[in-house]
Amino acid sequence: MSEPVVLGIESTCDETAAAVVRGKTLLSNVVASSMEEHARYGGVIPEIASRAHAEAFVPVVSKAMKDSGLRLDDLDAIAVSAGPGLAGCLAVGVSGAKALAWTAKKPLYGINHVIGHIAVTQLQFGAFPNDTLALIVSGGHTSLLHVRDIARHVDVVGTTLDDAAGECFDKVARLLGFPYPGGPHIDRHAKLGNAGALKVPMGLTQGRSGQEHPYDFSFSGVKTAVARWVENRQACGADVPVDDVCASLADSVATVLAGKAMKACKRFDSGTLIVGGGFSANSQLRAKLSNEGEKHGIQVRIPELKLCTDNGAMVAVLGANLVEAGVDPSPEDFPINSSMP
Ligand code: KG4
Ligand code: ZN
Repeated sequence: MSEPVVLGIESTCDETAAAVVRGKTLLSNVVASSMEEHARYGGVIPEIASRAHAEAFVPVVSKAMKDSGLRLDDLDAIAVSAGPGLAGCLAVGVSGAKALAWTAKKPLYGINHVIGHIAVTQLQFGAFPNDTLALIVSGGHTSLLHVRDIARHVDVVGTTLDDAAGECFDKVARLLGFPYPGGPHIDRHAKLGNAGALKVPMGLTQGRSGQEHPYDFSFSGVKTAVARWVENRQACGADVPVDDVCASLADSVATVLAGKAMKACKRFDSGTLIVGGGFSANSQLRAKLSNEGEKHGIQVRIPELKLCTDNGAMVAVLGANLVEAGVDPSPEDFPINSSMP
């Protein structure tokens, strides 16, 4: 079979996105975001996000088709994120994709959004080596994954036991008075500050049920320690050195993420680390990973920023991987799964 042409549709959170790929080549990529509508509430409001998907779905999908220069008839398959994500948001995308697949008589794949963050790196770096390690960091997930075969077999090596890294940044940012999403503000201020200014705990060396669990993360204590430090300063009327707080937080989180990722690569004998998710836009993490990668002889594949954040290309590429691997499409009545593992 020639390279499969796949339309990918994404609606797990606040981005309505669609893209068309031919194998590992991107033909179109359209993203509409409801982020600005959430900013004044300090976080994503599921009800607002779901309504925005209902409005944006048809315009986004039709623009992605138009930009690709193809017709629905030219598609080999359609793929859609079936989870994890906000239930109301997933319901809009999956219902729309089911209706489209049914009328266009095309096979439909309900895919895992987190695996999509791994798959998308193929657009920039080409196919995966076998048995690769992946670090996926975003507002909702922080996971180390062992990719045996992207289409069939991905194991969880470690995950966060509480807050995701992006969530931790967003919460501290809120405390410092930055609008949602705060991650990029912390990144910018961290570049100006002293990372040794306050002692931020390194998120987790002990893991589940008190046993050593070297590949899990915990960022809730990190957030609490920074919040306490800031609140104490505020309580006694002292200035809060915002740049230093951001630099110390960013350094701690990047050190833990990069350190555990390298350790996992060694353990699973992987010479490559795939990195994805919105938080991988973070400058401190990118720098730390590329330094550590060089030191340990591991090739770090971090895609360009527009492929790191949520988009339709990640869904379309994973769909193409499934078609190429001969995996059966999802049944007509496949469910959404907001807590998909
Ligand atoms: O993957 P994503 O777009 O959406 C989710 O699936 O969560 O990730 C969004 C998260 C937010 O928490 C945002 O603050 C964080 O990624 N983020 C950053 C940066 N850019 C986005 N965090 C730190 N530094 C950045 N430059
Ligand atoms: Zn995501």
